[in-house]
Amino acid sequence: MTDVFFAKKFTAGCLTEHSLAELMRTFTVMISAPSQSRSGPHPIFLWLLSSIGKKTIVALTGIVLLAFVAGHLAGNFTIYLGRDWLNWYAAHLQSLGPMLWIIRLFLLGVLVTHIFFTMLLWHENQAARPKKYIASDPVGTSVFARTMRLSGLVVLAFIIFHLAHFTVHLINPQFSHMEAMLDGHQVHDCYGMVVLGFSSLPVVIIYVVGLFLLTCHLSHGIGSLFQTLGLTNRRLHKMIELATRVIAWILYFGYISIPLSIITGIVK
Ligand code: HEM
Repeated sequence: MTDVFFAKKFTAGCLTEHSLAELMRTFTVMISAPSQSRSGPHPIFLWLLSSIGKKTIVALTGIVLLAFVAGHLAGNFTIYLGRDWLNWYAAHLQSLGPMLWIIRLFLLGVLVTHIFFTMLLWHENQAARPKKYIASDPVGTSVFARTMRLSGLVVLAFIIFHLAHFTVHLINPQFSHMEAMLDGHQVHDCYGMVVLGFSSLPVVIIYVVGLFLLTCHLSHGIGSLFQTLGLTNRRLHKMIELATRVIAWILYFGYISIPLSIITGIVK
C-alpha cells in the first residue's frame, strides 16, 4: 500500500490540491498499522526516505523558520517605540531562563533538519538528472528557484554573523557591558547595542545584502512549500506566487528599515 502511494506521488511529479488530505490519511494508516504485520524498515522511515517525505519535512521546518523570522521582526520593531520598549522585550526574553534555551535548541534543530533534508533532496535530484541537462538551466524557473542552495548558504553565513554580532558579542565585545535602567532595575541595553551596532556602514551593508538573500530564499521557498503540501493548483498558482513575493518583500523592507533608520540618524 505504501509502495503504491509513493509510486503515485513520484509519477505525478508534484502534489494536487487534494493530496495533503491524502498524504495525512496514508500517514495515519502507516503509523497505526500493527507492528507484527510489518517486515523490514518502519513505514515512517520509508516515508522519510521518499522524495515526498523529504520535501514535506523541508516545507514544515520552513514554516517554523518563517514564523520565527516574522515574529523576530515584530519584536525588533519595538525599537521604533523607544529604548524602554526594546529593552523590556529583550529582558522579557532573557527572563524565560531555561525555556529560552529549549526554544533556542528547538529552533537550531529545525534549522539543521531543514538544511539536512534540503541537501538529501539536492543529492537525489543530481543523481536523477540526465547528463545532457547538466549545463543548462531549466527554462521557466525563476532566478530565485535556481539559486535556492546558494541563497540558503549565504543566509546560514548571515545568521552565524548575526549571532556573533548581537548574541555572542564577538564583533563588538563592549556590547556585553552596555546597561540601562528599566523600571528601577538594571538591564542589558539592547537598544543601545543595536544603535551602536548599526552606526557602522560596513555592518549595515552586510545586513542589507544578507537580508536581500534571505528574501530571495523566502520568495521561492514560501511558494514551494504550498506546492509540496498540495495547497495549490494551476488557478491559485499565480496568486500564491504574488502573495509569496509580497510577504517576502514586506519582511525585507521591515528588517532593513532598522539599520537604515539608524545609519541615517532617524533612530538614535
Ligand atoms: C535588521 C535585522 C535584525 C535585527 C536588528 C536583529 C536584532 C537582534 C537582536 C538585538 C538580537 C539579540 C537579542 C538579545 O540577545 O537580547 C537578535 C538575536 C537573534 N536574531 Fe536577530 N535581528 C535581525 C535579523 C535577524 C534575522 C533575519 C534572523 C534570522 C534569519 C535573526 C535571527 C536571530 C536569532 C536566531 C537570534 C538569537 C536569539 C536568541 O538567542 O535568543 N535575526 N537579533
